[in-house]
Amino acid sequence: MYYPEEIVEEVRSRNDIVAVISQYVKLMKRGGNYFGLCPFHGEKTASFSVSPSKQMYYCFGCGAGGNVITFVMEYENYTFPEALKVLADRAGIALPQGEETEEQKRQADLRSQLLEVNKEAARYYYYQLRGQGGERGYRYLAGRGLTPETMKKFGLGYSPMANQALYRYLKNKGWKDELLRESGLVKIDERGARDRFWNRVMFPIMDGNNRVIGFGGRVMGEGEPKYLNSPETRLFDKSRNLYGLNLARRSRRPYLLLCEGYMDVIALHQAGFDCAVASLGTAFTPGHALLIKRYVSEVIITYDSDGAGQKAALRAIPILKGAGLSVKVLNMKPYKDPDEFIVHLGAEAYEERIGQAVNAFLFEIDALRGQYDLSDPESKTRFHRAAAARLSEFDDELERNNYLEAVAARHQIPREALREMVNRYGGRRVTAEAEAPEQEGRPRKKKEKDEGFQEDQRLLLNFLATEPSAYRGLKGVLRPEDFTGPVYRPVAETILGTLEKGEPVQPAAILSQFLEDEETRNQVAAVFHTALSQESTKEEREKILTETVRRLKRARLDSQVREETDPRRLQELILEKARLEALHIFLD
Ligand code: CTP
Ligand code: MN
Repeated sequence: MYYPEEIVEEVRSRNDIVAVISQYVKLMKRGGNYFGLCPFHGEKTASFSVSPSKQMYYCFGCGAGGNVITFVMEYENYTFPEALKVLADRAGIALPQGEETEEQKRQADLRSQLLEVNKEAARYYYYQLRGQGGERGYRYLAGRGLTPETMKKFGLGYSPMANQALYRYLKNKGWKDELLRESGLVKIDERGARDRFWNRVMFPIMDGNNRVIGFGGRVMGEGEPKYLNSPETRLFDKSRNLYGLNLARRSRRPYLLLCEGYMDVIALHQAGFDCAVASLGTAFTPGHALLIKRYVSEVIITYDSDGAGQKAALRAIPILKGAGLSVKVLNMKPYKDPDEFIVHLGAEAYEERIGQAVNAFLFEIDALRGQYDLSDPESKTRFHRAAAARLSEFDDELERNNYLEAVAARHQIPREALREMVNRYGGRRVTAEAEAPEQEGRPRKKKEKDEGFQEDQRLLLNFLATEPSAYRGLKGVLRPEDFTGPVYRPVAETILGTLEKGEPVQPAAILSQFLEDEETRNQVAAVFHTALSQESTKEEREKILTETVRRLKRARLDSQVREETDPRRLQELILEKARLEALHIFLD
């Protein structure tokens, strides 16, 4: 569906950005803006700012920025039409309707089409499992203890034995080869088209909003590979999605259970642990941690009990903590994974293990101990030192002390001796940092100059957007050509054009021109969040503005003077330079 610019602008302007973002992020007012913890990267201090006057957001930490529409797109992982729909509904605006025809569907953007194809494939597999050909798959899943309700809840399916079954079905529905290839569901080459999945039980993978974005397929019984997954597509970003999150986000438990496999998630949900999720056959990433942080502040890792699982847990812990989550680790011994544990010992026993889950730091120290031979005094001493080194990493004294007591008790280390060691490490760490030599070099100077130039351009554009009275003194002096690059130049053109007409500048509307490309959009948002210190007086601001314009123009004029060969033109340039030095801008 294509929406005219006026409609987009109406939806945008009738959804106050502070009100919308407040539904997702806790915001505090500071000066004219609001600040909160950035939902797009992990942080402990608030560098995510929302400007009510500009109707934009910008994170000074990671550079993510945009307007109310892009926020909803990014946060919910929505396409543009989806985000627009949500915001239109919120503001009570009826979007221009018209039943979408098959043709229009095909015209919609690629992401929407991929969503549609995945949905149809999921439906197809679902009915195959329940039909005649799916008997074996159904028996396999039932044999693993899954009830019909559970199979339905997770939309489980079956991919038939024939290697073009899905391909033919989707072709009949009118989908083109190009898109089917893009979806990863079908492989197409010189030899023809083949389904990626055949003769497997199918696990549709849904994003947080219940939309199918990919699949995992398991062989029934033994076979290689045990699981086959959709490849990464424009839709399916494994590092930003968690299996089961669509259900777990609605759980009333205050934590998430993080496991390794599809079957673990399903078995846990069936046993009443509706907060289980798994990363999708890939390593756990900071993107996953951020996703989790939106819903809970605690995670209990319940990875496989074998060496690989425990190692994966050790890797996930710092990532989870980095996002500000508190972390525990659950022990499932003597069983391998949550699925097996529950099959053998049941839900109640698992609930008990949740209660016994050990703090992640203590888990790390336990793992550390495993590397030393404690019957050997020398090795034992090295373990104690290593534990002390880890303890010294806590900056907060109270926290450090509490962990120190716990570690001393758990591993029978004399408390005072441990404390002394920790203090020694703590002291050394500080001096090591203080002694780090400063590297000064020429390349960096050039880079700094370049950054200064960019900063000047941002500052000026933001100035013009917020203090239109600045334009009086700049008319005829400042031109779009004084700005460079794919961001500053077009933004300057729009702002200067708007001011010329005497109209108010609307940053969030300008940003709508840059929806396509995330990086450009973030840079536009950065422009409008380049702030002068808020306390500066009018005189100070006038001085800064005047000097910035001079710097910007001088650089350009200088290079023009150097290159100009026509004497008359050169004369003009020199005159312009002189006028520039006399320039003084006054604000209202
Ligand atoms: N996995 C994968 N590809 C494989 C093996 C595993 O993508 N060839 C992923 C799957 O997401 C799987 C998870 O890693 O769910 C854990 O693998 P594993 O522990 O081997 O399987 P289980 O979850 O125990 O699966 P099952 O109980 O069905 O044997
Ligand atoms: Mn298993």
